[in-house]
Amino acid sequence: MTRTFETVGVVGLGTMGAGIAEVFARAEMSVIGVEADEAALERGRGHLETSTARAVARDRMTAEQQSALLGRITVTTSREDLADADLVVEAIPEIMEFKRGLFADLDRVCKPSAVLATNTSSLSVTAIAATTSRPAQVVGMHFFNPAPVMRLVEVISTVVTGEGLAGEIAGLARRLGKTPVTVGDRAGFVVNRLLLGYLNHACGLLESGLASRDDIDAAMKLGLGLPMGPFALLDLIGLDTSYEVCEVLFRESRDRRHAPAPVLREFVTAGLLGRKTGRGFYSYADGTPTVPESGPRAPVSMVGIVGSGPEVARLVADLDAAGFKATVAERSDLTPVADADVVVALSDRPVVELAVRLPHPERLVGLHLVGDRVAEVASTVLTSEEVAVAVQDLVTVLTRTPVRCGDRAEMVVDALLYPYLNDAVRMLDSGYATAAEIDDAMRLGCGHPAGPFEMLDAIGLERVRDGLRALYAEYREPSFAPAPLLDQLVTAGVPGFRSYAR
Ligand code: 3HC
Repeated sequence: MTRTFETVGVVGLGTMGAGIAEVFARAEMSVIGVEADEAALERGRGHLETSTARAVARDRMTAEQQSALLGRITVTTSREDLADADLVVEAIPEIMEFKRGLFADLDRVCKPSAVLATNTSSLSVTAIAATTSRPAQVVGMHFFNPAPVMRLVEVISTVVTGEGLAGEIAGLARRLGKTPVTVGDRAGFVVNRLLLGYLNHACGLLESGLASRDDIDAAMKLGLGLPMGPFALLDLIGLDTSYEVCEVLFRESRDRRHAPAPVLREFVTAGLLGRKTGRGFYSYADGTPTVPESGPRAPVSMVGIVGSGPEVARLVADLDAAGFKATVAERSDLTPVADADVVVALSDRPVVELAVRLPHPERLVGLHLVGDRVAEVASTVLTSEEVAVAVQDLVTVLTRTPVRCGDRAEMVVDALLYPYLNDAVRMLDSGYATAAEIDDAMRLGCGHPAGPFEMLDAIGLERVRDGLRALYAEYREPSFAPAPLLDQLVTAGVPGFRSYAR
């Protein structure tokens, strides 16, 4: 017998809970929203009104539809009001003790046929199910922030989930206009396991001083076409939630990639939790962050370029069009660029190895063109600030956004991207999810333009493998070592994951 879900309870009307309530109401279901007290209920109502008002302001919904939608949601402080719900989705803070207490209570209050779902980001659904007398009717239903916008729902079934239930919940997710990806109960599921490792890594790069917050965000957003840079996304998710998810991931994986970066703890301790408190990595009170004034720049008429191939030819043409003279040298003989005002090295790093061979080592920077919109400008320990600023200006003239960073393996974009791709290969190899499921999850859950396997195929497996090797050699971080599956596919000459469907 297939269940029907017409009345749905949502416990917790914070950002996620209110978004989830809106999603059910949009699908014409009756929603009972539960909060702990009147003040929290008021905040929950506020979230619902703001979100639906935004849709009205954008002509996505009429005022009548908005009031009909809000009319389908009743809010209450009494859990007893959930007695007739067909399904209850929990969206309270990520603290196991709270969740277990709530599920024991829901088990008592809800009718025997009701399904209980948790929106936990990372905690064990099995452990939550075990607090009830109906573990076969407990699943994970994991939405993504902002819930009305993101198209993915991860459906998590445990070893005790009743047969067919995950399929019914996946059907419900489709009715909500979402795409379900059904997986087993493992910390972080698909998305958070891959996403938080990457976000935490960005915090590590910031702390190491490799690049600034704004440069890292611009690099990932403009360079890769992601909807947000890592720090803007951390602020959206909430730094407390991000910290907690990393903790849980680390406890299970023991992978240092998941060990929460100290800067996250510092923000959380200071009560700066991101958007929800008005301040995290960015401040949301006064809108846009201030861009620091840069200092004097070196005068440039002759640009030296070290490198070869089509990328160099294009750069020479672009510089010429912008009114600069350029001279090119191969890595083996730097004489042609010895007297240039600034020298940019497009060849492999370490850049500093080239600098020490020049009469003016302070004039050399590394330049890495990423996509069509970003250029990473890597200063060595010898680069003068005036030269770095001059090259930054030059890049702007070439209509690219400059990203200042240090002379480190894979600079910023690839240093953050390749380990994330490597994590996805490890996940595939573990048999947890298929390449198509992982790609769907990252595209629909995080708005990425492509999933990790689509990105791997587009970049080329060998290039990613070699990049990982360079990262490993530089940082000696065990998780940067290429995943054995990636290494083997390169060795076997398999061109991409499309020809390795699994
Ligand atoms: N509530 C409702 N709707 C919202 C919204 C919100 N909080 N924020 C944005 N929207 C809607 C807008 O109304 C607009 O709708 P329209 O296209 O129908 O007019 C649409 O989303 C786009 O919004 P904007 O034009 O204002 O802004 P952007 O184009 O910059 O998009 C974004 C904003 C959708 C947040 C986009 O930046 C994005 O996709 N970011 C990535 C978010 C992400 O990765 N989420 C997953 C986080 S992980 C997670 O949640 C799991 C958890 O367990 C940790």
